[in-house]
Amino acid sequence: MATRKIVTIGDETLRKVCRKQEKFDLRLAVLLKDMADTMYRAEGVGLAAPQVGILRRVVVVDVTEDHSGLREMINPEILEREGTQTGREGCLSVPDRQGVVTRPRKVRVRYQDRKGRVQELVAENLEARAICHELDHLDGVLYVDVMDRELSEEEIHSRIPEDGD
Ligand code: NI
Repeated sequence: MATRKIVTIGDETLRKVCRKQEKFDLRLAVLLKDMADTMYRAEGVGLAAPQVGILRRVVVVDVTEDHSGLREMINPEILEREGTQTGREGCLSVPDRQGVVTRPRKVRVRYQDRKGRVQELVAENLEARAICHELDHLDGVLYVDVMDRELSEEEIHSRIPEDGD
């Protein structure tokens, strides 16, 4: 298992607009594997390439507890958004902080897989939230830029009212 170092807030890498991934080669496969390993080790539900210092439009997402739902998305674009959800969000690049963020409840996404084939998926609830969060990273946007409010230290460790309660 190869994990990479996660860049944290304050580093300019997180503020850049990433370039399109053009090559679907072994190097991309290695990046995807390393990103998944890094995400799982950090117990995150998503990771974008700029978070490991690579300015390419590549993200991984897995909102399952048993790591059975890995999505690898290259050059992803949101085609449709439906509804809203308001809830807790954090980021591996923004350690020890959380905020309340409003996101679409459902999204339809077009992306390329590791072989360059165009795919589409519809995601809802937590997966839709994670996808929106990771796609923002590709344009240099962090959840702290779009949150409704930041949670206090106390709230981070307690229940807060969220959609779905
Ligand atoms: Ni993040």
